[in-house]
Amino acid sequence: MNKERKKGKFIVLEGIDGSGLSTQTLRLKDYLLQNYAIKAVLAKEPSEGLIGALIRQILSGRVTGIHDRSLALLFAADRLDHIHNKILPILDKGDFVICDRYLWSSFAYQGLTNELVWIEEINKYALKPDLTIFIRVRPETSMQRICSSRIKTEIFETRETLEKVLANYEKIFKKWQECGKNVVEIDGEKDPQSVQIDIMRSIDEFLQRME
Ligand code: TMP
Repeated sequence: MNKERKKGKFIVLEGIDGSGLSTQTLRLKDYLLQNYAIKAVLAKEPSEGLIGALIRQILSGRVTGIHDRSLALLFAADRLDHIHNKILPILDKGDFVICDRYLWSSFAYQGLTNELVWIEEINKYALKPDLTIFIRVRPETSMQRICSSRIKTEIFETRETLEKVLANYEKIFKKWQECGKNVVEIDGEKDPQSVQIDIMRSIDEFLQRME
């Protein structure tokens, strides 16, 4: 997909619920600007588009009766919409995009109830990230953080589910690492400042490799 014309870099942060993705994407954006004068735009999936809004209603339980396969297709459709309407135009300008969740979330979450090959197939037109940062936290830590910060939880936010989601993330991480893709695992059990420092270090290395 449009590999030739893409000028900016596409960085994705992934992890189970409560792994600190939104905090760290924001901090990374500031770090790139302050230390490298790189403008980065934040993105998030599910996106702010129409399909993303529908997905949010399903996740919160306000819309019910959606089959797992339909949800997987909605995430894939939202992703393509997001890529074409937001991500690619920013990359084309030469700015970076930092995305809070992307393709791996579909492998990890929709992979709970759907075959991985099918998830790969429906996402085959999704632009591949230049770097994927996996923030690893234990499901116990994740549930503690979610319960102390929110009144309501979403459909995937139980310890049993997050254990399976984490196992899927670990599989995908290993698979992409073996294929030589740019992936980094960060220990998300540390305090946010230490996690930020580890992410900054991996970004420094990534940018050096890009030179
Ligand atoms: P968040 O806004 O707190 O990150 O929650 C988004 C939820 O959506 C989270 O539980 C993971 C889930 N999700 C999927 O199941 N598949 C996907 O492809 C994406 C992007 C998110």
